[in-house]
Amino acid sequence: MLIRKAEFVCSNTRVDKLPPATLPEYAFIGRSNVGKSSLINAMLGKKGLAKTSQKPGKTQLINHFIVNDEWYLVDLPGYGFAKTSKANREAWEKFIRRYLTQRDTLQCIFVLIDSRLEPQKIDIEFCCWLGENGLPFMLAFTKADKQSAVKSDMNMAKFRRSLGEYFEEIPPCFLTSAELKTGGERILETIADVNTR
Ligand code: GTP
Ligand code: MG
Repeated sequence: MLIRKAEFVCSNTRVDKLPPATLPEYAFIGRSNVGKSSLINAMLGKKGLAKTSQKPGKTQLINHFIVNDEWYLVDLPGYGFAKTSKANREAWEKFIRRYLTQRDTLQCIFVLIDSRLEPQKIDIEFCCWLGENGLPFMLAFTKADKQSAVKSDMNMAKFRRSLGEYFEEIPPCFLTSAELKTGGERILETIADVNTR
């Protein structure tokens, strides 16, 4: 997909304040610091569009970006940020889960997984929650540049195997690196396919 235009639209803490649900929408979610905002910037070819940080917990709001005036890409706050309070975590959960279950135009959720790690319980549980709620999702493994391709493949295979304990069908998986700007194009092609369906 050719990115002709990518712009920030708004940040929100409230589901009822989101931009009108008129365009197909895709959300990026995953653990804090997994690289959601970085992958969005790499994919859209615009450094600094989504705010990134070395410290986890940078993205705190639902951030809408409009691409080619045709569809929304949404950057969400990360889950599993240990340093935040229990009350904060619960508020996050409620707000994000409400967004994910109520946004009618949400076409697909991309769950980002750190390709350096063995399957993490929190990621598997989150995928299971999506499955239980009938929400379509795909997996984007991040930070592929940080280790060998063999290691990334091994961790992806392990993750798929773990998911296989709960799902009959494993969703599509993408291996990405925001640093090398790889993998994003395949995600964009998938989005283009869904948009023209
Ligand atoms: P929160 O908003 O806090 O949930 O984090 P996030 O998931 O949006 O992560 P973010 O994009 O802010 O990136 C976190 C850190 O990981 C930053 O220091 C990035 O530079 C780094 N990072 C992200 N993607 C990659 C990647 O593909 N390769 C490498 N080497 N570093 C990356
Ligand atoms: Mg972020």
